[in-house]
Amino acid sequence: MSGGVHIVTIDGPSGSGKGTVSRALADHLGWHLLDSGALYRLTALAAQLKRIPDADEAALASLAAGMNATLSYRGGVEQATLDGEDVSDALRSEHCGELASRVAAVPGVRHALLDRQRAFARPPGLVADGRDMGTVVFPSARVKLFLTASSEERALRRHKQLKQKGIDVSLRTLSEDIGQRDERDANRSLSPLRAADDARVIDSTRLSPEEVTARILPLLEAAGIGPNRA
Ligand code: C5P
Repeated sequence: MSGGVHIVTIDGPSGSGKGTVSRALADHLGWHLLDSGALYRLTALAAQLKRIPDADEAALASLAAGMNATLSYRGGVEQATLDGEDVSDALRSEHCGELASRVAAVPGVRHALLDRQRAFARPPGLVADGRDMGTVVFPSARVKLFLTASSEERALRRHKQLKQKGIDVSLRTLSEDIGQRDERDANRSLSPLRAADDARVIDSTRLSPEEVTARILPLLEAAGIGPNRA
């Protein structure tokens, strides 16, 4: 619990399916959802618009803490605004993900986003999706999950998603980008991507998001978490 609110964390690398599964669980439970990656993406986008370089840690940290940004869901699709402008599409681009992984390695930014992330913990509960939800942001979460999948499968999933959006990127380029992003996320000094000691690790390589969700529900049930028992 965090301030009396129950929390389930889902961490893992990009393409592990945690976004889809987190949304499904939040819907099922009737809980709030935190897509922490979107906060790093918003910070990166705001920094780009304001032309703040990666090296200016103080300016990036103050931007992360003070940016005028919102995240919400309409018809199951994430909507994001920055200074009142709809930036939902820009936020989902590969380019933005790459920029986000750079600003996410800046300690001042990670620190500045802590309060923003914790503010999402409101009754009845929160499903928090990210890289360090169970290790750093919500260390006392009731249930911690860590999703993995082979890098080939993750690149294939991302390729399919982009294709559906009409974006044509070669699978090879995508695999390389994902590999670099994994490397940066796993090796940064602060909050590197890793499963919390008390996290349940689920390999989703051969599972659909529905099958992953079906494996998680009994774990929540065992922890006394259900739609009517938040
Ligand atoms: O999950 P998503 O791809 O939107 O995240 C974008 C980037 O933000 C990741 O590659 C990672 O570097 C960073 N991130 C992070 N910690 C989180 C969530 C995302 O460092 N909790």
